[in-house]
Amino acid sequence: MTQDELKQAVARAAIEHVPSGIIGVGTGSTANYFIDELARIKGRIDGAVASSEATAQRLKSHGIPVLDLNTAGELAVYVDGADEITEHLHMIKGGGGALTREKIVAACSKKFVCIADGSKLVGMLGKFPLPVEVIPMAQSYVAREMIKLGGQPVLRQGFTTDNGNIILDVHNLQIMNPVELETQINQITGVVTNGLFARRPADILLLGTAEGVKTLKA
Ligand code: A5P
Repeated sequence: MTQDELKQAVARAAIEHVPSGIIGVGTGSTANYFIDELARIKGRIDGAVASSEATAQRLKSHGIPVLDLNTAGELAVYVDGADEITEHLHMIKGGGGALTREKIVAACSKKFVCIADGSKLVGMLGKFPLPVEVIPMAQSYVAREMIKLGGQPVLRQGFTTDNGNIILDVHNLQIMNPVELETQINQITGVVTNGLFARRPADILLLGTAEGVKTLKA
Protein backbone atom coordinates (compact mmCIF):
# COMPACT_ATOMS: atom_id res chain seq x y z
CA MET A 1 0.00 0.00 0.00
CA THR A 2 1.17 3.53 -0.67
CA GLN A 3 1.47 6.12 2.09
CA ASP A 4 -1.63 7.86 0.74
CA GLU A 5 -3.61 4.59 0.84
CA LEU A 6 -2.54 4.10 4.47
CA LYS A 7 -3.69 7.65 5.28
CA GLN A 8 -7.04 6.97 3.60
CA ALA A 9 -7.43 3.73 5.56
CA VAL A 10 -6.96 5.44 8.93
CA ALA A 11 -9.22 8.30 7.88
CA ARG A 12 -11.98 5.76 7.14
CA ALA A 13 -11.35 3.96 10.44
CA ALA A 14 -11.69 7.24 12.37
CA ILE A 15 -15.31 7.60 11.26
CA GLU A 16 -16.21 4.90 13.81
CA HIS A 17 -15.11 7.36 16.52
CA VAL A 18 -17.37 10.18 15.33
CA PRO A 19 -20.37 10.72 17.62
CA SER A 20 -23.36 12.94 16.89
CA GLY A 21 -22.96 16.62 17.75
CA ILE A 22 -19.93 18.81 17.03
CA ILE A 23 -16.43 17.46 16.44
CA GLY A 24 -12.97 19.01 16.11
CA VAL A 25 -11.04 18.52 12.89
CA GLY A 26 -7.29 18.78 12.41
CA THR A 27 -5.06 19.93 9.57
CA GLY A 28 -2.84 18.22 7.01
CA SER A 29 -3.03 15.56 4.33
CA THR A 30 -4.33 12.81 6.64
CA ALA A 31 -6.91 15.15 8.16
CA ASN A 32 -7.96 16.07 4.59
CA TYR A 33 -8.73 12.41 3.86
CA PHE A 34 -10.73 12.34 7.09
CA ILE A 35 -12.76 15.37 5.99
CA ASP A 36 -13.55 13.60 2.72
CA GLU A 37 -14.80 10.56 4.67
CA LEU A 38 -16.73 12.81 7.06
CA ALA A 39 -18.60 14.28 4.09
CA ARG A 40 -20.20 10.86 3.50
CA ILE A 41 -21.79 10.86 6.98
CA LYS A 42 -22.24 14.61 7.45
CA GLY A 43 -25.91 14.19 8.38
CA ARG A 44 -24.77 12.50 11.58
CA ILE A 45 -23.04 15.62 12.96
CA ASP A 46 -24.18 19.19 13.65
CA GLY A 47 -20.92 20.60 12.38
CA ALA A 48 -17.19 20.86 12.99
CA VAL A 49 -14.67 23.19 14.60
CA ALA A 50 -11.69 23.68 12.28
CA SER A 51 -8.06 23.87 13.42
CA SER A 52 -7.02 26.04 10.45
CA GLU A 53 -8.35 28.20 7.65
CA ALA A 54 -7.42 25.45 5.17
CA THR A 55 -9.47 22.87 7.07
CA ALA A 56 -12.39 25.29 7.34
CA GLN A 57 -12.34 25.75 3.56
CA ARG A 58 -12.29 22.00 2.91
CA LEU A 59 -15.12 21.36 5.38
CA LYS A 60 -17.21 24.09 3.76
CA SER A 61 -16.50 22.75 0.27
CA HIS A 62 -18.16 19.50 1.39
CA GLY A 63 -21.14 21.36 2.88
CA ILE A 64 -20.14 20.61 6.48
CA PRO A 65 -21.04 23.54 8.78
CA VAL A 66 -17.96 25.16 10.39
CA LEU A 67 -18.69 26.34 13.91
CA ASP A 68 -16.99 28.77 16.30
CA LEU A 69 -15.17 27.09 19.16
CA ASN A 70 -16.37 29.71 21.63
CA THR A 71 -20.00 28.79 21.05
CA ALA A 72 -19.42 25.05 20.51
CA GLY A 73 -18.31 24.36 24.11
CA GLU A 74 -16.57 21.08 24.93
CA LEU A 75 -16.16 18.76 21.96
CA ALA A 76 -16.59 15.00 22.24
CA VAL A 77 -13.73 14.18 19.89
CA TYR A 78 -10.84 15.76 17.96
CA VAL A 79 -9.38 13.94 14.95
CA ASP A 80 -5.98 14.94 13.57
CA GLY A 81 -2.71 13.64 12.15
CA ALA A 82 0.83 13.95 13.51
CA ASP A 83 4.35 14.39 12.21
CA GLU A 84 5.75 11.96 14.79
CA ILE A 85 4.07 9.93 17.54
CA THR A 86 5.40 7.55 20.20
CA GLU A 87 3.78 4.52 21.79
CA HIS A 88 2.95 6.81 24.74
CA LEU A 89 0.96 8.87 22.18
CA HIS A 90 3.15 11.94 22.67
CA MET A 91 3.43 13.80 19.36
CA ILE A 92 5.25 16.40 17.33
CA LYS A 93 2.77 18.40 15.26
CA GLY A 94 2.85 21.59 13.26
CA GLY A 95 4.48 20.49 10.03
CA GLY A 96 1.61 22.32 8.35
CA GLY A 97 2.00 25.29 10.69
CA ALA A 98 -1.41 24.94 12.37
CA LEU A 99 -0.07 23.84 15.77
CA THR A 100 -1.60 26.60 17.90
CA ARG A 101 -5.17 26.19 16.74
CA GLU A 102 -4.70 22.40 16.78
CA LYS A 103 -3.59 22.55 20.40
CA ILE A 104 -6.52 24.78 21.33
CA VAL A 105 -9.12 22.52 19.71
CA ALA A 106 -7.44 19.44 21.22
CA ALA A 107 -7.54 21.07 24.66
CA CYS A 108 -11.30 21.56 24.29
CA SER A 109 -11.94 17.94 23.31
CA LYS A 110 -12.69 14.97 25.57
CA LYS A 111 -10.98 12.51 23.23
CA PHE A 112 -8.08 12.99 20.79
CA VAL A 113 -8.00 10.43 17.98
CA CYS A 114 -4.70 10.57 16.09
CA ILE A 115 -4.67 9.17 12.56
CA ALA A 116 -1.30 8.40 11.01
CA ASP A 117 0.44 6.15 8.55
CA GLY A 118 3.01 3.75 10.01
CA SER A 119 5.99 5.98 9.14
CA LYS A 120 4.95 8.44 11.87
CA LEU A 121 5.50 6.01 14.76
CA VAL A 122 8.93 6.63 16.37
CA GLY A 123 10.83 5.42 19.43
CA MET A 124 11.89 8.94 20.40
CA LEU A 125 10.57 12.31 19.19
CA GLY A 126 12.86 14.85 17.55
CA LYS A 127 14.05 13.63 14.17
CA PHE A 128 11.25 15.78 12.73
CA PRO A 129 12.23 19.41 13.50
CA LEU A 130 10.06 20.82 16.29
CA PRO A 131 7.84 23.69 15.04
CA VAL A 132 7.59 26.64 17.42
CA GLU A 133 5.14 29.48 16.69
CA VAL A 134 6.66 32.82 17.72
CA ILE A 135 5.53 36.46 17.87
CA PRO A 136 7.59 38.05 15.04
CA MET A 137 9.47 40.61 17.19
CA ALA A 138 10.72 37.79 19.47
CA GLN A 139 12.27 35.75 16.64
CA SER A 140 15.95 36.33 17.54
CA TYR A 141 15.41 36.04 21.28
CA VAL A 142 13.50 32.78 21.01
CA ALA A 143 16.07 31.43 18.53
CA ARG A 144 18.87 32.12 21.06
CA GLU A 145 16.88 30.39 23.81
CA MET A 146 16.32 27.36 21.59
CA ILE A 147 20.08 27.15 20.94
CA LYS A 148 20.60 27.12 24.74
CA LEU A 149 18.28 24.09 24.84
CA GLY A 150 20.54 22.34 22.33
CA GLY A 151 18.45 22.91 19.20
CA GLN A 152 19.19 24.54 15.86
CA PRO A 153 16.31 26.87 14.96
CA VAL A 154 15.56 27.58 11.30
CA LEU A 155 13.03 30.23 10.24
CA ARG A 156 10.29 28.73 8.05
CA GLN A 157 10.78 30.95 5.02
CA GLY A 158 7.82 32.79 3.49
CA PHE A 159 5.35 31.36 5.97
CA THR A 160 2.90 33.18 8.24
CA THR A 161 0.55 31.28 10.54
CA ASP A 162 -3.22 31.79 10.57
CA ASN A 163 -2.53 33.91 13.69
CA GLY A 164 -0.06 36.23 11.89
CA ASN A 165 3.09 34.78 13.48
CA ILE A 166 6.29 33.05 12.32
CA ILE A 167 7.46 29.46 12.76
CA LEU A 168 10.92 28.39 13.91
CA ASP A 169 11.63 24.76 13.01
CA VAL A 170 14.04 23.51 15.66
CA HIS A 171 16.39 20.74 14.55
CA ASN A 172 18.43 18.23 16.54
CA LEU A 173 16.66 18.48 19.90
CA GLN A 174 17.18 15.53 22.25
CA ILE A 175 13.62 15.00 23.44
CA MET A 176 14.10 12.60 26.36
CA ASN A 177 11.19 14.04 28.35
CA PRO A 178 8.51 15.53 26.05
CA VAL A 179 6.25 16.77 28.87
CA GLU A 180 9.12 18.66 30.52
CA LEU A 181 10.41 20.14 27.26
CA GLU A 182 6.93 21.21 26.16
CA THR A 183 6.51 23.07 29.45
CA GLN A 184 10.00 24.59 29.30
CA ILE A 185 9.57 25.96 25.77
CA ASN A 186 6.15 27.36 26.65
CA GLN A 187 7.85 29.48 29.34
CA ILE A 188 10.03 31.36 26.81
CA THR A 189 8.67 34.86 26.33
CA GLY A 190 7.47 35.34 22.76
CA VAL A 191 6.61 31.68 22.19
CA VAL A 192 2.95 31.24 21.31
CA THR A 193 2.96 27.44 21.16
CA ASN A 194 5.37 24.61 20.50
CA GLY A 195 4.58 21.51 18.49
CA LEU A 196 5.05 19.03 21.34
CA PHE A 197 1.69 17.51 22.23
CA ALA A 198 2.69 15.63 25.38
CA ARG A 199 0.91 17.39 28.24
CA ARG A 200 -2.27 16.57 26.36
CA PRO A 201 -1.34 13.50 24.30
CA ALA A 202 -3.64 11.57 21.98
CA ASP A 203 -6.01 9.09 23.61
CA ILE A 204 -6.14 6.71 20.66
CA LEU A 205 -3.81 6.19 17.71
CA LEU A 206 -5.15 4.64 14.52
CA LEU A 207 -1.98 3.55 12.73
CA GLY A 208 -2.02 2.56 9.08
CA THR A 209 0.17 -0.47 8.34
CA ALA A 210 0.45 -3.02 5.54
CA GLU A 211 -1.31 -5.49 7.88
CA GLY A 212 -4.25 -3.14 8.42
CA VAL A 213 -5.24 -0.35 10.80
CA LYS A 214 -3.84 -0.93 14.30
CA THR A 215 -5.38 0.75 17.36
CA LEU A 216 -3.01 1.87 20.12
CA LYS A 217 -4.13 3.38 23.42
CA ALA A 218 -1.98 5.32 25.88
C1 A5P B 1 -0.43 20.49 10.81
O1 A5P B 1 0.01 21.67 11.39
C2 A5P B 1 0.18 19.31 11.47
O2 A5P B 1 0.17 19.28 12.83
C3 A5P B 1 -0.34 18.02 10.88
O3 A5P B 1 -1.28 17.41 11.71
C4 A5P B 1 0.80 17.11 10.71
O4 A5P B 1 1.79 17.87 10.05
C5 A5P B 1 0.45 15.86 9.93
O5 A5P B 1 0.28 16.17 8.59
P1 A5P B 1 0.12 15.05 7.50
O6 A5P B 1 -1.15 14.31 7.80
O7 A5P B 1 0.05 15.82 6.21
O8 A5P B 1 1.33 14.18 7.56
